[in-house]
Amino acid sequence: MRKETKIIAFANNKGGSGKSTTCSNIGYVLAESGYNVLMVDADMQQNLSLSFFEEEDVLAFSESGENLFTAIKEERDASSFIRKTKYKNLSLIPSGILMSGAEFELYGKKEGEKTLARVLEGARKSGEYDFILIDSPPTLGMVVLNIMCAADYLLIPIEASPWGLFGLANMLDFFAKTKEQNPALSLLGIAVTKADERKTYFRQTMEFLEELENVNVFKTYIRIDSAVEWAQDNSQPVAAYKKNSRSAKEYAEMAKEMLEYVNR
Ligand SMILES: Nc1ncnc2c1ncn2[C@@H]1O[C@H](COP(=O)(O)OP(=O)(O)OP(=O)(O)O)[C@@H](O)[C@H]1O
Ligand SMILES: [Mg+2]
Repeated sequence: MRKETKIIAFANNKGGSGKSTTCSNIGYVLAESGYNVLMVDADMQQNLSLSFFEEEDVLAFSESGENLFTAIKEERDASSFIRKTKYKNLSLIPSGILMSGAEFELYGKKEGEKTLARVLEGARKSGEYDFILIDSPPTLGMVVLNIMCAADYLLIPIEASPWGLFGLANMLDFFAKTKEQNPALSLLGIAVTKADERKTYFRQTMEFLEELENVNVFKTYIRIDSAVEWAQDNSQPVAAYKKNSRSAKEYAEMAKEMLEYVNR
């Protein structure tokens, strides 16, 4: 059956805010719930790819050129680089180390900001996927502009810290500017990750976020949990690594909130 594909970008210029972790875990939860999910790794760090594949496979994706960078550089349908993960309903287009040069490639192209949308069009129009989730690098350059132009929704994972909030202001400005180029893009919400409920700063941050106007803040936040790191060390989403862990439940809750929002 043909599906109407929704493309969700996970982006925040603040490094280490939980983009790759949130993207991989939400992707897994959606796939487990029966949605067909394609994940797209657009970061040279290849963290999304490492979330599902062993290091040697990820290095091979990079060296072989069978990755998103080649699709962008040569304007090839990225569908030819789709890899099935070991999980049902869950596939991935890997990144490669050369994604570090994607900014340069994109500036040289006509309508360069729409390149990613063009190379993902085949996957979108195939009607095979319910969701395409894109993991972004911690920048606000041409690659992230491309991600914004390809997406229907933006999800901003943030950490409750002073610099996390500073980065959020930049991200929200960038979102407002990119909407001029992709008016269909909407802000799905802000999701707090790596939360430490014992800290006053965390509680203050939640209060601050809740007061932002016209911005959806996920009620579910993801608390710090070492199971997340052990799962990543094992190239697995946390719910596959430790089904009953606290964070597995939190990601399931967050995905539920996300579905309610996109299905409104
Ligand atoms: N709930 C959690 N509990 C413990 N550690 C976490 C949790 N979520 C993320 N981390 C860790 O925090 C670090 C940053 O997370 P992640 O890599 O997802 O952020 P990112 O925004 O993708 O980073 P980058 O900007 O480098 O792409 C990682 O080492 C990850 O293992
Ligand atoms: Mg990342």
